[in-house]
This record gives sequence, C-alpha cells and structure tokens, in this order.
Amino acid sequence: MFPVPIHLDKNNANPMYMQLANQITQMIHQKQLVANTPLPSIRKLASHLGVNTVTIVSAYKQLETNGLVQAKKGSGYFIIEKAPKTSTHVLDIPMKQMTQQQIHLRANEINFASATPDPSIFPITAFKNYLNIVLDRDQGYAFGYHESNGYEPLRESLSHYMKRHHMINIAPEYIQIVSGAQQGIDIIGKVLLNAGDTIIVENPTYTGALAAFKSRGVLIKEVSLEQDGLNLEELEHLLQTHHPKLLYLMSKFQNPSTISYSEEKLRRIIKLAEQYDFYIVEDDSMAEICYDSSIAKPNFISLDTYHRVVYIKSFSKLMMPGLRIGFIAVPPQLSTLIMNAKHHTDISSSGLIQRTVDLYLREGDWDQHIEQMKAIYKRKYTLMLNGLNSLKKYGISFLEPNGGLHFWIKLPSYIQSKDFCKACQRQSLLIMPGSIFNASQDTSTEQYIRLSFAACSEEQIVQGISILEQILDSFNLPKKMTILPLI
Ligand SMILES: Cc1ncc(COP(=O)(O)O)c(C=O)c1O
Repeated sequence: MFPVPIHLDKNNANPMYMQLANQITQMIHQKQLVANTPLPSIRKLASHLGVNTVTIVSAYKQLETNGLVQAKKGSGYFIIEKAPKTSTHVLDIPMKQMTQQQIHLRANEINFASATPDPSIFPITAFKNYLNIVLDRDQGYAFGYHESNGYEPLRESLSHYMKRHHMINIAPEYIQIVSGAQQGIDIIGKVLLNAGDTIIVENPTYTGALAAFKSRGVLIKEVSLEQDGLNLEELEHLLQTHHPKLLYLMSKFQNPSTISYSEEKLRRIIKLAEQYDFYIVEDDSMAEICYDSSIAKPNFISLDTYHRVVYIKSFSKLMMPGLRIGFIAVPPQLSTLIMNAKHHTDISSSGLIQRTVDLYLREGDWDQHIEQMKAIYKRKYTLMLNGLNSLKKYGISFLEPNGGLHFWIKLPSYIQSKDFCKACQRQSLLIMPGSIFNASQDTSTEQYIRLSFAACSEEQIVQGISILEQILDSFNLPKKMTILPLI
C-alpha cells in the first residue's frame, strides 16, 4: 500500500493521525512517494491499519494543510508536484523579498518575521504637535536644502542624547545625519570600499548590510559568533590572510543571533583594528531596547582611543522607521569624505523631519517615549519567552538575551528551517529562516529561525506560539512504534 510500512502506536502521546501524516511526509521528502501518486483510499487504508476512518481523514487533511497532497474531486488524494503558491511572499518569491526586508502581510497573517514596530504605537499626536510648531516657526525654511552633514541643532541634540543615555561623547561636528542606518551603511561602503576589497562580517548578520556591501563588489568573509562576540581566532586568521578594509558588526542584541559583546572582546577587537589597520563599523540599533539595566555593556565607540570605529545609530525600532532618520558618528579623518558621500547620495536628509525630530528630542518627549516603548516590548518579550520555554520539550534551544526584538531559535536536527518556515507560512505565520542571514549561504544557519515580536500584538504572540507548537508536533516523529504488516 505504501513503499515503506506504516507503524502506528496508540500509546504514543502523538495522536495516530499525526503519526500517519508524519510518516507519509517522510516518504515524500525521501522521494519514496513522488508527484501525482494517489494515496490509498480512506476506507482501504483504515481497514489495513485497523483504525477508524476519521484517523485517515485527519491525516490526509493535515498533509493537505502542509501543502503536500491535494484532493481531486471523486478521485481521492494525490501527492502534489510542489508546494502550492498560496501567496506572493515568504519563501517562494519571498527569499528575495525578505532579504530586502520587504514583507507584505495578508489579512489574518501573524508576523513573527519582521522586526518593524507596530504602527499603532507610534507617537503620532506628539509628533503632529511638533510638526505644526516647526511649520509655524520655520515656514519655508523647513523646506529648503539643508546642510549635508545634518541640521546643526539636531546634531547638538543627538550629541546630548548620546551622552545622557549612553555616556558616549560625540561632538556635534562628528555627527553625520543619514536617512536611516541603512543609508549610513551604504555611505560608509562608498567611502571605504572599492571593488575587490575584502570585508569581514559576523555569521549570522543583518541582511540589509550584506546587500549594501555586495553592491560595492567586495569579497565578504565571515567569522562565527560566540555568546560574547566574534570568534577571535577565526578573526585573527582572516586578518592575517585577507587584510580586510573593514569589519561590520552589531555590538548589542545582535541581529539575528541576539548576542552582546563582552567588554573584553570589545577591547581586543579594537586593538586588532589598530594592529591590522581596518575600520570597525559598529551598527547599534538596539542599545536602548534592554530589559535589564544591570547587563548594560559598553559600545565599541566608547572604548575607541584610535579613531577606528565608525558608529551607526538607527532610531527606527524606537521611533518611526518611516521618518528615515539615523546618524553616523564619524572618526575625524573620515568626516569630510563621509559628508561628501552623503551629498552625492541625496544632498541631505529631509529638513522638515530633522527639525521636528530635534524638537521632539529637546522637549523631553523622547525620554518618555523610550520608556513606553521599552515597557511594551518587554511585555511582548516575556510573553514570547514563556511560550518558547514551553516548546523546549520539542528540542528547540535559544538564548535569553534580555533585550532586542527577537529570538534566534535552533531547531532540532531533524527539522530544516526552510521546511519549517513553509509549514508556518501555510498556517499564516510568517517567520524568518536562518539561512538568509549569512553571506556565503552555507549550511551554518540552516538549523535556525528568527522570531520577532516587534510587529505583532500580545494576542498574536499567543496564537503564533500555539501554531509553532502544532507544527513542531507534526514534525515530531513517534518515538515508540508498532510495526504493522504491509498488505
Ligand atoms: C542591524 C540593523 N541595521 C540597520 C537597519 C536599518 O535601519 P534604518 O531603518 O535606520 O535604516 C536595521 C533594520 O532592521 C537593522 O536591523
């Protein structure tokens, strides 16, 4: 009836219909059942296995939900050619779109994929108020060309902010305003890199940075991450053999691995930068989103005595990504080059938005807003953490970062993240497969998925965890099996 005997165990905690669906799934994955093969009729299989027909119907329905079989009217169920294209995003076209951070949600879908804040919590009223003040106060000046390095009062406000919140001293003249951190990465690439140069990135790393660096035609080498930062042996080996121009990294709640650097590693990497003559590009979009102030660690930039660190700050996760405002703290020797590159790119960031953000920072609403955002994110973090802890019984593992907006989950070895993501997508749950977060697309992140809680509601987190449980359960092969004779 099947090329491999079916074994069902009624004492197994996994229901019999799931055991059946799992075993048929395995035969499909191992190509023992190929496209267009009909599945046995429900009645015949039920009598062959000695089970109720409901068990067979449920198993076939589960396979249909997972996109592996298709019911044809009057003819029963058939193995399908490939997973149906139920949507135009995630994993089918999707891989490409997801690397570009473009995720188009459909109604009823739960978004654990993107780390973009939920628009319903944006500070619209306060922002509207400051926007009106700027329009009344500055009139047409708000709409003129602005300085390429940024509106001076905003650079001053940001300098105060960095000192007050992070104890980092950056003089306003070394602050370069950019239209989001993504533009900052791109501009740094334009200034520091030529085609054929080598750069080093963390493995895994932020896909947007990979895309920007790739566009410069550079050779990208990867160094694996440990719980306290880069593997220094691997790093030093590459420094000796490849003489990179820059090292791109995220010091806090790294995207996607969630690790933060220890102070010791920060100091050692800065020394290596001086010794081997390269720049450290420190991308810091998460420093504020820390749920336990006792774990606060320094940044690269605060320890840099050699002017080796180019620091990029995004405010997208805390404020509103559509404002497109971030900044680069530039070492003095690069400031003119970086300002010129910004000028060649888009002349300046929007003056109206820079003026409004400046007022928002100056009037103190910003500090209050950060606290509100942190409280919201912390509740979601705790909810997802508790849910994920309850799924550890399926063999998943992850760090508890106590900050940031996502979890980096290692799946049990018998589950491939791409298969897992597809199964989630079919249940309207969008998640990120680990494989998109590395430059060489080797197998090192294949076993991982990234789950973000930024974009969804608390209710959706609970629903999403329950979907994850069902899917983990459906991948979970029965441990104890009874062998039934094959007819
Ligand atoms: C690590 C990292 N850097 C930069 C960015 C881009 O930020 P922005 O919206 O400021 O361009 C992101 C966005 O997700 C990010 O995760």
